[in-house]
Amino acid sequence: MTVMSSSTKRKNIVITAGPTYEPIDPVRIITNRSTGIMGYEIARAALKKNHKVVLISGPVSISPPSGARFIPVERARDMKNAVKKEYMKSDCLIMAAAVSDFKAKKIRKGKIKKGNKGLTVKLSKNYDILKSLNQKPNTTVVGFALETDALLKNARKKMADKKLDLIVANKLDSKNNAFGKGRKNFVLLRKDGRRSFYKNITKRKMAKAILEETEKIMA
Ligand code: CTP
Repeated sequence: MTVMSSSTKRKNIVITAGPTYEPIDPVRIITNRSTGIMGYEIARAALKKNHKVVLISGPVSISPPSGARFIPVERARDMKNAVKKEYMKSDCLIMAAAVSDFKAKKIRKGKIKKGNKGLTVKLSKNYDILKSLNQKPNTTVVGFALETDALLKNARKKMADKKLDLIVANKLDSKNNAFGKGRKNFVLLRKDGRRSFYKNITKRKMAKAILEETEKIMA
């Protein structure tokens, strides 16, 4: 008799979390609001299911779950390089990071003195990590969509543009503060158009749901 151990279905899962920091000068940055909680909770859920987890994270104030291989990064460029490398060895990538879409065109070497006038900073488009990924077969890719308007339409578009197997859509408005702790609303959108709505759910529970859905796709 063959005994299937729980490690039989063990997958290599790469998870990104938190914001990225794009420097303007040695003191100032451009960033996104993100606590990293969602990505860290997914990492936790994956570790609980005995998966091998690589957690690539921008700067946050929470601790990575023990058992994950932790890769701290600051800039989108560094996150992109780490994702590209780790993705090659993975069965699944979950991009929960809030990557800064803009970066300063020129990073000043010295601190910009405030002077008397305002300051104009020229920004250029940053790397789109998911879009720049050379996707390989048999790898599951999960993304997020944070939207203030047209949640489902924008999420569906992102799913197609970024070639995702699953997208977690998250509305940001007066009724749903998507950031940080507490209970939130989410929608899971699958490639075949099926959707699941989650109302008033903690990020811990949502992370479990995302992981379970991802496991179904990987299977
Ligand atoms: N993402 C990425 N690289 C970026 C921006 C986002 O890989 N430069 C990933 C995020 O991790 C997320 C998904 O793409 O999984 C969607 O991110 P989101 O910020 O909602 O959308 P954007 O692609 O940035 O588009 P927009 O800002 O126009 O809504």
